[in-house]
Amino acid sequence: MQLLEERIKADGRVLGDSVLKVDNFLTHQVDYKLMKEIGKQFAETFADAGITKVVTIEASGIAPAVYVAEALDVPMIFAKKSKNITMNEELLTAEVYSFTKQITSTVSISRKFLSPDDKVLIIDDFLANGQAALGLIKIIKEVGADIEGVGIVIEKSFQDGRKSLEDAGYKVVSLARVAKFEDGQVVFAQADA
Ligand code: G4P
Repeated sequence: MQLLEERIKADGRVLGDSVLKVDNFLTHQVDYKLMKEIGKQFAETFADAGITKVVTIEASGIAPAVYVAEALDVPMIFAKKSKNITMNEELLTAEVYSFTKQITSTVSISRKFLSPDDKVLIIDDFLANGQAALGLIKIIKEVGADIEGVGIVIEKSFQDGRKSLEDAGYKVVSLARVAKFEDGQVVFAQADA
């Protein structure tokens, strides 16, 4: 997605040799106009998949996911990383290990929001090692819903998230694919959409 690549080039900052900071349009401050275009792009790509729910994980997946849900006219559900006192119904949970943060967190979704008839599109802001998406897949499979694909805003292709997801049989669609960082600049690989 050219608009997204241009924005990453203009506003993204490379930190060290493996992290891209995009906090002025995606992970902290959010550019809703860009999110809206991202939503339209994913909706177009998955137009024939019969998606009934969009699922993401808090926090930074929520902004793109809600615009995908709007474009597909379906609900968006985000997995929670901490349980609060109102979550008193049956929960579906998965352990997610973050290589970046080196912590394991338990993520959960209330069972009442998913049914075996659902066709789910998973959306996330970053794909690094794929652990967040794999955790969501475990939860969604537990209710017997179908997973039609994983939509990623920014994939770091030099990490093995895509391979893990494709090896497990899932379609991955990334709007920007970072092949590498060179002299503080982002080098893109061919994106999926
Ligand atoms: P994985 O899910 O693909 O295995 O990724 P990993 O555990 O390595 O990443 C953990 C967190 O760091 C995730 O956010 C992920 O979105 C984010 N992340 C990974 N690589 C980058 C990067 O290059 N730049 C930025 N900005 N973030 C990156 P999270 O823990 O779910 O945090 P948040 O969504 O609550 O902010």
